Amino acid sequence: MGKPKVYVTRLIPDEGLDMVREFCDATIWEGELPPPRDVLLRETRDADGLLSLLTDKVDPELMDACPKLRVVSNMAVGFDNIDVPAATERGILAGNTPGVLTETTADFAFALLMAAARRIVEGVEYVREGRWKTWGPMLLMGPDVHHATLGLVGLGRIGVEMAKRARGFDMRVLYYDVYRREDVERELGITYAPLDDVLTQADFVSIHTPLTPDTRHLMNAERFARMKRSGILINTSRGPVVETEALVRALQEGQIAYAALDVTDPEPLPADHPLAHMPNCIVVPHIASASAATRGKMAQIAARNLIAGLKGEPLPNGLNNDAVGKGRNAMPRDW
Ligand code: DGY
Repeated sequence: MGKPKVYVTRLIPDEGLDMVREFCDATIWEGELPPPRDVLLRETRDADGLLSLLTDKVDPELMDACPKLRVVSNMAVGFDNIDVPAATERGILAGNTPGVLTETTADFAFALLMAAARRIVEGVEYVREGRWKTWGPMLLMGPDVHHATLGLVGLGRIGVEMAKRARGFDMRVLYYDVYRREDVERELGITYAPLDDVLTQADFVSIHTPLTPDTRHLMNAERFARMKRSGILINTSRGPVVETEALVRALQEGQIAYAALDVTDPEPLPADHPLAHMPNCIVVPHIASASAATRGKMAQIAARNLIAGLKGEPLPNGLNNDAVGKGRNAMPRDW
């Protein structure tokens, strides 16, 4: 008996790749950039499984071009790159990697908050450029983090961890979410408020929503106008939750003071994009979950999801386990 054929769209940590290699006949794209679309379609054509990243679009075109595909395992908690309803219709199981990156991502979001408030990147550049001539009584001043108000837009797992970190800094925490979490409010002493109130009152606005049709461009010109002029925006969720042109204008016109972005739209951000050069904006390349331990765990979960789907079992972290045993997932296995 052979092994199921899978396509892995990038080299991932060995913690997961070794499991995939053991159970599957794996073809791995080893390029530093994602496989081009034509390569992805060609390589997945005969595959039983796909281990994808957030950079790979898994849409009906791909699903139909790959008639044996029965599982798509995304090594990310976000899955806006996968058309899950289309997968379900075809009996293709889909999975993601929630949980293991929660604290790592919140650590990073808080690091961005601190870096923006205390102008750390500007300070580093100042020294590197040889401009540090003396101690300056007003050099690179910024707002305090302690006792400031943090506004969370989205109170999922990462939002909750962000609130915990803020507590350690004696911050007042407001949050907006479509679901009110009274248990978390009580446990962490945080307060629910409508989105507009969160934006008006917060010194720091940190975005923690998934990207959905409802959250696309949630942060637009109108919403920036509600923020304090001293307000700082942090985004570690998905780039398109923020309307880029509106953010550029808000930063240029002093509508808000600063932005610290792990995610952008477009992504990657072209090197000549205004956001990459504004003195009041820092952009890093979507690395919030990039601790070695977390990426190893994400790879492991992605491998477990992939293997379960190939076996026709519910995925440990499934997005549509109701498709188990249906459509393609019910096709006979020749391994
Ligand atoms: C995710 O998992 O969705 C992050 O954006 C990358 O870790």
